Amino acid sequence: MKLNRRVNNLAPSGIRKFFDLVLGMKEVISLGVGEPDFVTPWKIREKAIFALEEGYTSYTSNKGLLSLRRALSRFLKRKYNLVYNPEKEILITAGVSEGLDLACRVLLEERERAIVSYPAYVAYPAVVSLAGGEILPLFCSDKDNFQIDMEQLEKLLVQRPKLIILNYPNNPTGISFTRPQLRELWSLLRRSDIYIVSDEIYDLISYDFPHTPFASLRGAKKHTIYLGGFSKNFAMTGFRLGFACGPEEIISAMTKIHSFTMLCAPIVSQIAASEALVSETEAHLMVREYRRRRDFIVKSLNELGLTTPMPQGAFYCFSSIKAARMESLEFASRLLYQKKVAVVPGEAFGAEYKNFVRISFASPLEELKTAISRIKDFLAAANKSR
Ligand SMILES: Cc1ncc(COP(=O)(O)O)c(C=O)c1O
Repeated sequence: MKLNRRVNNLAPSGIRKFFDLVLGMKEVISLGVGEPDFVTPWKIREKAIFALEEGYTSYTSNKGLLSLRRALSRFLKRKYNLVYNPEKEILITAGVSEGLDLACRVLLEERERAIVSYPAYVAYPAVVSLAGGEILPLFCSDKDNFQIDMEQLEKLLVQRPKLIILNYPNNPTGISFTRPQLRELWSLLRRSDIYIVSDEIYDLISYDFPHTPFASLRGAKKHTIYLGGFSKNFAMTGFRLGFACGPEEIISAMTKIHSFTMLCAPIVSQIAASEALVSETEAHLMVREYRRRRDFIVKSLNELGLTTPMPQGAFYCFSSIKAARMESLEFASRLLYQKKVAVVPGEAFGAEYKNFVRISFASPLEELKTAISRIKDFLAAANKSR
């Protein structure tokens, strides 16, 4: 069958492939999926239930309910002193996933270049390719604690890329950037005519320092498409809701595509999300629990010889498996079959990361403890058989 070449050339998501395997197995501790183990806070669910009871089952305006856009605008002002006009500069999307796709489609012409920093969330190379763009990979290394290598970036900028996709706190490394680090990055980027697509979906899940939106850096707002969401911060993955904020012209172009392909984000989700923005208490409680787990799992993995940098946000560790002397796909498959613990092979985030696995700590502490003890046995057995 003759299908679209761009689609044919897309590699399937490395994460999904692995999880189809996990789904077929019993009693597996899954440290693989990228979603909170918490159910959506009750107040938000209650709001969704009431919305249905009251008969909110229609379309909304393409951009999303104005009441939600206004609430979001107030939230961003209060939290980050960021000012976005709710009528013109905010679009409510079906998750950050849609925002990423729209941003690439409105910005990239055929064969224009997009810098993607690696290890990368699996959707980035896909949305760039589907928009017809070319990827300029920017490799981050464990030697630099997965920070951005400015020299490498400077070289890539010479190739006049149209945009760069940033993601912090990062999936899969958990690494984030402080305000001074972001200022340094912006001082380099601002010399080029480049757009910043900033995926900050984990902003509220920040442990060590306050999150700084890229758009809040002086002079950066008009070059930035700021993508945020509800999936992770408020444990609302199934509601499929996110937002894009940016210059009016870009948001209006994104809305044009969105109005034909999505029409609008689901109304019940939008009503529920307004409740999420009113109180962050539950989100803070989840972060407190993630932090407790992070401290435990990072310490334990390092003690086992799986060198793991301390995640500053999100709920992932990106651990080196060099000590196990096998590559990530073999490591993950053997760990799954022998010990029933699922982790994601590093190569799902870029072919260069075969010596890493991503371990999610969005699982109860007791499960993490059992998983660690199984990983310990697994490593001991692997070493013995050598
Ligand atoms: C970095 C990053 N961006 C975007 C998404 C997708 O989020 P959403 O559920 O809002 O589409 C994920 C989900 O794992 C993610 O990790």
